[in-house]
Amino acid sequence: MATTSKSSPSKSPSKSTSAKPSAKSSAARKTSGRRRRTGRRDPLAIRLLKADHREVEGWFDEYEQLEEDADKLALFDKIALALKVHTQIEEEIFYPEERGDVEEDMLDEAYVEHDGAKKLIAEIEAMQPGEDFYDAKVKVLGEYIKHHVKEEEQPGGIFAQSKKGDEDLEAMGERLQARKDELMAELAPAKAN
Ligand SMILES: [Fe+2]
Ligand SMILES: [Fe+2]
Repeated sequence: MATTSKSSPSKSPSKSTSAKPSAKSSAARKTSGRRRRTGRRDPLAIRLLKADHREVEGWFDEYEQLEEDADKLALFDKIALALKVHTQIEEEIFYPEERGDVEEDMLDEAYVEHDGAKKLIAEIEAMQPGEDFYDAKVKVLGEYIKHHVKEEEQPGGIFAQSKKGDEDLEAMGERLQARKDELMAELAPAKAN
């Protein structure tokens, strides 16, 4: 049911697409189409990581529409798996290889944010959807991830700095994808046992 508003067919003629998002940023935010540039021209590593971000954001939005506990549990399992795999490939490959290209503080904070997310995921996994605070925790996790993704994607953020750096982000993208595939297979819950 996720509304697929990938590209707005008619660009608003408001010419504000170029530089400064300062004035109107909060007002025009509720459209939440999340059409933040998906970076078609980004190198593979960045495209892959951004695609992961979009996928999980979509799932958090979808979660809000759910009513049945079983549906919530199933969707949260998908979210948790995706986040575990994503944070792991960033921590194993992307972040360490970007040391030197990206500000140290920024990378350190990213690790800490990952740890925070993992703790919250573990708490949620120890619960059942009907319990008090389950939905609230999922919601807060979504907001937490949104914040973290912003740190990665915003102008001057981790991705922007890494694109200016020396690493071959095309080749790294292939390694990220390969590791992602491996981890998905490894961490995916054994469905039928
Ligand atoms: Fe990320
Ligand atoms: Fe991250």
